Amino acid sequence: MPRKGGPIERRSIANVEKVVVVASGKGGVGKSTIALNLAFALALRKNERTNAPLRVGILDLDIFGPSIPTLMSLKNAGEPALTNGGAILPMTNHGLPCMSMGFLIPSTIPGSEDNTDTPIVWRGLMVQKAVQQLLFDVDWSKDGQGLDVLVIDMPPGTGDVPLTLGQLVKVDGCVIVSTPQDVALSDVRKGIAMLKKVSVPITGLVLNQAYYLCPGCSTNTPRYLFGETKNFYDVASKLHTPVLGELPLVEGVSRSSDQGYPYVLRDSKSVDLDDGNGDVVWRSNMAQIAASVNSALWKNV
Ligand SMILES: Nc1ncnc2c1ncn2[C@@H]1O[C@H](COP(=O)(O)OP(=O)(O)OP(=O)(O)O)[C@@H](O)[C@H]1O
Ligand SMILES: [Mg+2]
Repeated sequence: MPRKGGPIERRSIANVEKVVVVASGKGGVGKSTIALNLAFALALRKNERTNAPLRVGILDLDIFGPSIPTLMSLKNAGEPALTNGGAILPMTNHGLPCMSMGFLIPSTIPGSEDNTDTPIVWRGLMVQKAVQQLLFDVDWSKDGQGLDVLVIDMPPGTGDVPLTLGQLVKVDGCVIVSTPQDVALSDVRKGIAMLKKVSVPITGLVLNQAYYLCPGCSTNTPRYLFGETKNFYDVASKLHTPVLGELPLVEGVSRSSDQGYPYVLRDSKSVDLDDGNGDVVWRSNMAQIAASVNSALWKNV
């Protein structure tokens, strides 16, 4: 809580070594999809200091429109358990712990656990309280070992949530997501400016839905459905921010999200849909993005 007469002190999250945020000023650009797949792609990597597999968790800070319960196939999975001390225990699926407002809101249908249609109608202070609870009241100790990295999925925009996060928590890195359109880029610039104001270090940019590789076509020429990518690279260079990678638009990515299964974990032989070269490019670029984020997080240790 703010202290009288002094600046707000930023805290670490208990049992979490590094915090990396996935954000964008713009809605619907793929933040949640990338946050989820980044978390799993990191979990497939090793801690560069200990050589043990990275222990990763994911925290959904989108209070009004949480996506992680769906993306983790944990929708209507019931309420999370509490520790004896009253801390909230994360929910786990596919071997990865996660927490979301979506697990904490009640159903409006009598006798049902389905809270999909329950709206959150809160003003600023309530939002701040919910963010504080999600940041500090979750027990990430995971078999007593804790997490190497907590990936935070942010809501769109520059409102209460990024402000509260930046003021209360020491953040170690931030991945900014954009699509090639100018409308997205303009919001992205505002988002970056805001995050810098609250001292969140920007790790780099990801260009999502950069192009489409038609699976059934004889040529593998990328189709720039949302326009050329030049403006994105111009913005990155003007902001002196590295580009971590590009991800193509792939049908299986969105289908996989709806099925609650991270695309990076899919075995390409078992998928019901042939995404052609887009599949290979998406996975390898996501793995590269995770490698860059991992290196950046531990660089100044
Ligand atoms: N590279 C991609 N290829 C195909 N579909 C994608 C890709 N990236 C995102 N999508 C789809 O686009 C939609 C929006 O993605 P997502 O929910 O991750 O965006 P968001 O930025 O988190 O949105 P919000 O601002 O509402 O939180 C989803 O249906 C998702 O499956
Ligand atoms: Mg989202």
